[in-house]
Amino acid sequence: MLITAEKVESVRQQLQEWRTNQQTIAFVPTMGNLHDGHLSLVDQANKYCDRTVVSIFVNPSQFAEGEDFTRYPRTQEQDLDCLVKHGVDLVFIPDVSEMYALPNLTIVEVNDLSGQLCGEFRPGHFGGVATVVCKLFNIVQPDIAVFGEKDYQQLVLIRTMISDLKMAIKIVGVPTVRANDGLALSSRNQYLSDQQRDIASTVYKTLCSTREQLRTVETMNYRQIEDQQFQHLKQAGFRPEYFAIRNADDLKPPVQDVTQQRLVILVAVWLGQTRLIDNLLV
Ligand code: PAJ
Repeated sequence: MLITAEKVESVRQQLQEWRTNQQTIAFVPTMGNLHDGHLSLVDQANKYCDRTVVSIFVNPSQFAEGEDFTRYPRTQEQDLDCLVKHGVDLVFIPDVSEMYALPNLTIVEVNDLSGQLCGEFRPGHFGGVATVVCKLFNIVQPDIAVFGEKDYQQLVLIRTMISDLKMAIKIVGVPTVRANDGLALSSRNQYLSDQQRDIASTVYKTLCSTREQLRTVETMNYRQIEDQQFQHLKQAGFRPEYFAIRNADDLKPPVQDVTQQRLVILVAVWLGQTRLIDNLLV
């Protein structure tokens, strides 16, 4: 049975009961409008723990002025049906005042990571993410929390916060779920027109061809590859923000010509009014 809770206190009471019965708790934070990507996180969470908790909260503090906070798709009824089907035990759906007392004076900032890649183009975004995830972790106090590799920088940021703040939570990363043509599933894909939707898969194709290049060519000039693919995306009709090859663990630029490093290729583009992000591990 799915329990719905809107208040912090009711979540705490329910979780206390489960913990008293020695049950372990997995947690999947979301902003709702659930698709198969989110649900694959839920399925993973179910495998790891006795109880699965999901939160649905469109977090205002991670949207900058002029971003899509107000038009972000909210589909609560449909989301609850999905969560019932996937065997979730508790869903936490707070309103903004429950999460942010006014004034909210405390914020969590993960330095360095917050200012680069997406953070360079969305000032304040990762501070908002770290702050709300920290609050949610304090409310749920899960044994395990599950995040998608789709938001790769977010995953690295959360792992860093967990380590720096000595939180006793194990973070599980889940591979990106994609449409048949490779486009990463995202709540924002529904902003795309049919024509844009056709072009959108070029992002994944560009990531794949870059990965092939990185695997087959011996001497690497990463900057040159980044510039070429940036231009390629521009010609395909996107307005790219960045195309970056980074170390997969800390997102620092890779050491030139060292072959034994785990790399990740990250990209953010605009297609009309829609911002798309994606990445691929090498
Ligand atoms: P949201 O965009 O709703 O995503 C919730 C979780 O689903 C994130 O961990 C995200 O990486 C994962 N996810 C999204 N699309 C996916 C896909 N195609 N395949 C696999 N996983 C996918 O990310 C957020 O919400 C927020 O920033 C949040 C962490 C909830 C904080 O507000």
